[in-house]
Amino acid sequence: MKMKLDKISPAQANATYEGLPYAYEPSLSRERWLRAISDLDSPHTQSGPEWEQFKKQAIRAAADNLPQDIKQMLQHLAESNDSECDGIVIDNLPNDATHQGRPDTTTKVSISEAVLLGMAGVAQCEIIGYRQEKQGALIHRVEPQPGKEHTQSNAGRVKFNFHSDNAFLSRLMQPQLLGLLGSVNDGDVATLLLTLEQDIIPNTPTKLLHTLRQPIFRISAPESFDFGGYIVLSTLRPLIYEDENGQSHIALPGAVFRQENQRAERAMRDFKELLSTLTPRSIVVRPGRFLAFRNTRVVHGRSPIVGNRLLHRIYFTRSLAPRLSAVSNVEKARVLDVRLLLGT
Ligand SMILES: [Fe+2]
Repeated sequence: MKMKLDKISPAQANATYEGLPYAYEPSLSRERWLRAISDLDSPHTQSGPEWEQFKKQAIRAAADNLPQDIKQMLQHLAESNDSECDGIVIDNLPNDATHQGRPDTTTKVSISEAVLLGMAGVAQCEIIGYRQEKQGALIHRVEPQPGKEHTQSNAGRVKFNFHSDNAFLSRLMQPQLLGLLGSVNDGDVATLLLTLEQDIIPNTPTKLLHTLRQPIFRISAPESFDFGGYIVLSTLRPLIYEDENGQSHIALPGAVFRQENQRAERAMRDFKELLSTLTPRSIVVRPGRFLAFRNTRVVHGRSPIVGNRLLHRIYFTRSLAPRLSAVSNVEKARVLDVRLLLGT
């Protein structure tokens, strides 16, 4: 198994991987965790009493078997503004590949689903989805799909440019945190990250940074969203901006969309060119590895996909409150209807 052993040390406190806080689930508690969830069957619908029961059991299993330092790492990611912790890597988690052989499109993936629900629960977060993306699924399969190999989307095989997920939405309606758990990654395909604070801002010329902070850009909905043929664009907005606490954020679309403003078009092109020259943090999300990061503080991309690859993805967030005000049916608020979010 290929591992960047020079960069990690499983037993070491304060370990990092590609500059991100890193932890390794001890094999003994991993086996116990696996036993606790191996008989759970994930329901086909991700709502209702059966789903809630599955979620409760999954969170209990994670809470019982994750060591304290990993729990703290997850909670720190979810609640702090610490730029040293804009992403984390956790290894040796239970996953479907080691449990039942290689999952394919027809295999149930209850182990991966239980682990992701558990990790989000331990972080005291809720998982959210969007009705127009992957039919409102809360746990997404990320794998190449026939006919979409050349798209700039998580169904593609070609190199996926740096982007933030669902950047066409306002910050509070975007996913706050992204979590990826590896099931299959035959070609050791790397997920590539650049953090805003440490990698992007220090390397962006002041003049370009100034332009990126202007509200002159429009961002289109990504190809993973289905609006029944409608093209959905954001209002004019900056690509880099500060929140009410002075913390910087980035909203970067993956797909190319021609800007109506020439200055915006030039800045978008220059910025993407600049990002492609930076050395990214390169993380192979292999079976049993969990990578999570702050979606508005980190841009992510991917090398071209070689061989089979299957990851599971969640969007998770500490507070549903700002999102609840934008949906009409509170009970279904974990799956957001983007039509109700536009303009909020
Ligand atoms: Fe993405």
